[in-house]
Amino acid sequence: MKRQKIAALIQAEAPIDQVLVKGWIRTRRDAKSFSFIEVNDGSCLANIQVIADASLPDYDQVRKLTTGSAVGITGALVASQGGGQRWEIQAESLTVYSLAPETYPLQKKRHTDEFLRSIAHLRPRTNKYGAAFRIRSELSYAVHRFFRERGFRYIHTPTITGSDCEGAGELFRITTLDLNRIPTRDRQVDYAEDFFATEANLTVSGQLSAEMFALSLGDVYTFGPTFRAENSNTRRHAAEFWMIEPEMAFCDLAGNMDLGEDLIKATVGFIIENCPEDLGLFARFVDKNLMATLENIIDSDFERVPYREAVAILERKGKQFEYPVTFGSDLQTEHERYLTEKHFQKPVIVYDYPKTIKPFYMRMNDDNETVAAMDVLVPSIGELIGGSQREERLDVLENRMDEMGLAKEPYWWYLESRRYGTVAHSGFGLGFERLLMLVTGIRNIRDVIPFPRTPGSIDF
Ligand code: 4AD
Ligand code: MG
Repeated sequence: MKRQKIAALIQAEAPIDQVLVKGWIRTRRDAKSFSFIEVNDGSCLANIQVIADASLPDYDQVRKLTTGSAVGITGALVASQGGGQRWEIQAESLTVYSLAPETYPLQKKRHTDEFLRSIAHLRPRTNKYGAAFRIRSELSYAVHRFFRERGFRYIHTPTITGSDCEGAGELFRITTLDLNRIPTRDRQVDYAEDFFATEANLTVSGQLSAEMFALSLGDVYTFGPTFRAENSNTRRHAAEFWMIEPEMAFCDLAGNMDLGEDLIKATVGFIIENCPEDLGLFARFVDKNLMATLENIIDSDFERVPYREAVAILERKGKQFEYPVTFGSDLQTEHERYLTEKHFQKPVIVYDYPKTIKPFYMRMNDDNETVAAMDVLVPSIGELIGGSQREERLDVLENRMDEMGLAKEPYWWYLESRRYGTVAHSGFGLGFERLLMLVTGIRNIRDVIPFPRTPGSIDF
């Protein structure tokens, strides 16, 4: 007999004579002549209630079942007598795959997020984390669906790269050199002896590769793991995260903003529509304002404000911030959150940032002081998207690289794209975990990644 998922059984239209479910025991309660067992198989938030009668041949086994044990149960799916669920299973036979000892850490009581992080290998068996990771899966499907419906092609850009796209130097090195016997030449590491015969690192962004494909296939996107050796222990930074990076040929900054706004609205809307049970858990237990926040995101026109104006707004509120703001300073999370939560009370797109705080590839504006950059800021997170129109003019790009002291040689292929059929093009990066934090109301990035990597932490 084929195993059925609980997600399907609870949607049944009519009773079913025989079903087989397999899952893990959440609770067992014994009455005089029968036991109630709650089984969860991870397919949905709901457990299925099983009634095991004392007349069952395996009833002595039932009485030994502990929380966390793995079982298979056959029986009839019948209308439930008790409240709370429509269907329950009247057990006919039971297989115990493995009996969990009483040391199983997830006994029925509330656990803190901190404790659950220390058992990241078991936390997806809780209601909250099961829901979070089902939503993560659905959200990733929503992203692919969004782009496919708009004719974007999915490009797999390399994980190992030779360049630092963002120029921030937050790179994890890749090497096969023996770190105890590093080859040197002129007292420097001799990378000629390394695997790639040059320095290599994990990617901080797929953008430069994506640009090459936008200038070939038109509209493209990447969606993959991204690595940053930022030594910042915040609740919104991880050393390994997933980034979604669309790149569009024949597109300017305004078109880029439109796409970012559409992407956020469409994916949030998809989860509201397709994950009501799991999302409901977060709306009840994690963030009471969650649904209002999400509806507001879907319904509002994102505010579009030049950086200069955003700074002026913040300067007027100067006293309340830990870090002062003036033209030329990077916005801190507190500033971003003030703009979106307090001042505009909806998502905000800040654009035209000073060139001094942005990477080399952003398109220079006519003022020669700002670049065609944009960041999308959302409540409780701050920056969700960072992007720009790209500098497509070879001479301007080369000047900019010189100005920033960037060696041009490693970027020879990137620069060639500006020589052969260069056109206006734009794109952005959206941090997938931050989107998931927005959707679920979960406050810490460590709690939306199956096995988070942060400074000093790589268990699991
Ligand atoms: O603003 P960032 O650094 O932009 C880029 O990397 C561009 N090359 C993207 C592009 O235009 N194709 O990063 C983009 C987004 C941020 O807005 C943030 O949401 C997320 O990536 N992000 C992180 N998320 C989690 N942990 C980190 N350490 C992150 N760093 C960036
Ligand atoms: Mg950024």
